Amino acid sequence: MSSNRIIIFDTTLRDGEQSPGMSMTREEKLLVAEVLDGMGVDVIEAGFAMASEGDFEAVKAIAEQCNRSVVCSLARAKEADIRRAAEALKPAERKRIHTFMSTSEIHLTHQFRISQDEALNVIRDSVTLARSFTDDVEWSAMDATRTETEFLIRAVEVAIAAGATTINLPDTVGYGTPNTIAHMFTNVIGAAKGADKAIFSFHGQNDLGLATANSLAAVRAGARQIECTINGIGERAGNTSLEEVVMALKVRKDIYKLECGITTEHLMRASRLVTQVTGQAVQVNKAIVGANAFAHESGIHQDGMLKNRDTYEIMTPESVGLTKSNLVMGKHSGRAAFKDKLSELGMRLGENQLEDAFVRFKALADKKKEIFDEDILALLDTEAPNERYSFATLHLECGTESPQTARLGLMIDGHLRTAKKEGNGPVDAIFKAIKSLVLDASDAALKLYQVHAITGGTDAQAEVTVRLEREGNMVTGHGSDVDTLVASAKAYVNAINKLERFTTRIQLTDQTDEMTVDNASKKAAS
Ligand code: KIV
Repeated sequence: MSSNRIIIFDTTLRDGEQSPGMSMTREEKLLVAEVLDGMGVDVIEAGFAMASEGDFEAVKAIAEQCNRSVVCSLARAKEADIRRAAEALKPAERKRIHTFMSTSEIHLTHQFRISQDEALNVIRDSVTLARSFTDDVEWSAMDATRTETEFLIRAVEVAIAAGATTINLPDTVGYGTPNTIAHMFTNVIGAAKGADKAIFSFHGQNDLGLATANSLAAVRAGARQIECTINGIGERAGNTSLEEVVMALKVRKDIYKLECGITTEHLMRASRLVTQVTGQAVQVNKAIVGANAFAHESGIHQDGMLKNRDTYEIMTPESVGLTKSNLVMGKHSGRAAFKDKLSELGMRLGENQLEDAFVRFKALADKKKEIFDEDILALLDTEAPNERYSFATLHLECGTESPQTARLGLMIDGHLRTAKKEGNGPVDAIFKAIKSLVLDASDAALKLYQVHAITGGTDAQAEVTVRLEREGNMVTGHGSDVDTLVASAKAYVNAINKLERFTTRIQLTDQTDEMTVDNASKKAAS
């Protein structure tokens, strides 16, 4: 089945999310799925429904939410997996079950311990079962790039005969090179009976840094679906990066002559969102979405750029959704200007949210003279109203004289509670003070603490990411402020609010080191 339309299959929420440090909550997955759906991703692999209750719920919620993209769940070649995927996908307007089986000798012998003939039976049965739930079934030949061609062709024929409509030939271990990938597709598409009835797909891992090049080679050899992730996140060295393949197809349309449905102006927003929810920043020199991807530093390049941008720019920053760091407004800006700016940034807020964001914008403008687009986005991203816990006050004693001490106030269920703690440095003291106020946070393990400056300048806002884990649940909190230590406290509190969603109710500590204002006023009244 050949056409000049490339199907973009995004697996940020499945292959991307399953890699270390990338886990997302259900709410975070919904946010990412909304952006993927809105930017024109054809198929969203929303998760692996059988993996856990959380994965099942996330796939189901995405299936309920998406209205453009096909929603897909991964399923091993097992009856229970396929039934679970079908159940999670029930609410989707358009659904796909993606099932897979290894085909390489090395996997069949050492991992599955079955013969090739047994593997063919598994493929037939699993695809047949998946087809009983949906007409859209993808089958993947895991470790295809290390499978002998003759057996790969037989496996593909069996999958197509059983009803698979998409055949994926993944480079599971990132072993392929552009030449070997092109040969694999040419051989299989050329020889497999029924190949004209299926769409061929490529899923590339980036172990040798070749995932994007390999995807483009696959497309040249007849693949019409590319599996990829935002920022290239995924197992080990990651997957093919969505933004790279999409922009390569667009910028080098002269070579590929292919279309895809992605609105490229949304790429930056998707990249920032994935960075935000995972807390994993992309390297500065990452193609398309890295901080330096459109920066011209050398004198000769700057000279050329000033004369004509085409001299050193193969695509415009605007084409990937990068707006210049626009100076927005200061403390004199009014509600109308703020509302205008939000709609320019693509943010739609209800009246109450708008009012709340405006108050926070004004508070920021009091501390920071120049406010940029990035500041506003951070403001909206990191502070959600109506959470159980919110940061209130912080007083620190720190510097060269130890001990470092934090006296910190939290609003908890509408009441101010305070605690004072010492620590090894101010951040440690702040986190200890928060933990002393929120009992269930005390056994949460800190997995990541990361700080970055949102814009340039010494008055730039710091954006802090904190990742906490408790009982296998991982959450990522964010906080931004012109004061890095306040941002740290906000990020920790944000993470605790997310952690609370995993428990019925986080308990408060009985004692705090200081009498709380709330208790003090009650005592005075009694
Ligand atoms: O890497 C791989 O082979 C996979 C398949 C399930 C597509 O993730």
